[in-house]
Amino acid sequence: MKTYIVGNWKLNFTVGESSIYLHKLQKKIPNYRDVEVVVAPTALALQSLSLQIDRHKMKLSAQNAFYRDFGAYTGEISFAQLRGMVDYCIVGHSERRYIFGEDDKMIQKKVEAAVRNKITPILCVGETESERAFGETADVIRDQVLGGLADVSEEDIDKVIIAYEPIWAISSTKASKLASPDEIAEAVKLIRKVLAELYDKETVEKIPILFGGSVNPSNAGAYLTVPGVNGLLIGGSSLILSEFTDIIEVAKRVRA
Ligand code: 13P
Repeated sequence: MKTYIVGNWKLNFTVGESSIYLHKLQKKIPNYRDVEVVVAPTALALQSLSLQIDRHKMKLSAQNAFYRDFGAYTGEISFAQLRGMVDYCIVGHSERRYIFGEDDKMIQKKVEAAVRNKITPILCVGETESERAFGETADVIRDQVLGGLADVSEEDIDKVIIAYEPIWAISSTKASKLASPDEIAEAVKLIRKVLAELYDKETVEKIPILFGGSVNPSNAGAYLTVPGVNGLLIGGSSLILSEFTDIIEVAKRVRA
C-alpha cells in the first residue's frame, strides 16, 4: 500500500496563491512511487489546478462536495461536477460536522456520491475532547465509521480512505494536546475492528487509514510508524512549503 501525504489547505490561499504554491511544490519534489502526495485547495482553484497539476507527482482533492449530482441546491458543488477534475474528496471533516452541522446521515450520502462519481472519499472520523474524557471515544468512532460507510459495498470499499482526526489534537500548539502514538494505534485498531464488522478481513487490511492532528516535520516520522497508519492528513503544516516537503521526505524515508 502507498503512503498518503494529504495537505488540507482549508480556507487558506487565494486562487493565485494556490497556483504559485503548486508550481513551487511540483518543482521541489520528484515522482515518488510509494508516496501519494495530495493537495486539497479551495474549490475555486480546483479547475485551474487540475490543468496545472503534474499527476505523476501528485493528485488533487476537494475539501467537500454535495451528494446530489445536480438540482436546486443553491451554493453547492457536486461530486458529479468534480468528476475527472479531482481524484479525492475529504468527507466528514470535523469542521464540516461541527461548524456546518453535517451528521452521519449526510456524510454517508456524500461517501456514496463520491464513490459513484469515481472520486475517492477521505472519510474523517474522530472524537472531541469531552467525548474522550467521558470514555466515549470507541462509541463515537464506531458510529462515525458505520454511519459513513453504510452505503459502501464490499466491492467499493477499496475506493475509500479513512482518516482518524481526534478533534482535540487539531491545530494544537500545546504538547499535552498532541495525540500520542499509543492513542493513535488504539484508535486505528478500533477502526479496523469496526471495518471488519462490515467487510472481509483481507479487504479491511487494504483500506488506508491516515492520521491527522497537528502533524509537522518533527512528529511525522513517529506518526507514520504507528502500526496501522498509512499516511497523514495535514492542515497548518501543509501551508508552509518547506514543512510540507519535509514531511514528504520523512514519508519517503520511512518507506525506504
Ligand atoms: P492541523 O494539521 O492544522 O492540526 O489540521 C489537521 C486537519 O484538520 C487536517 O484535515
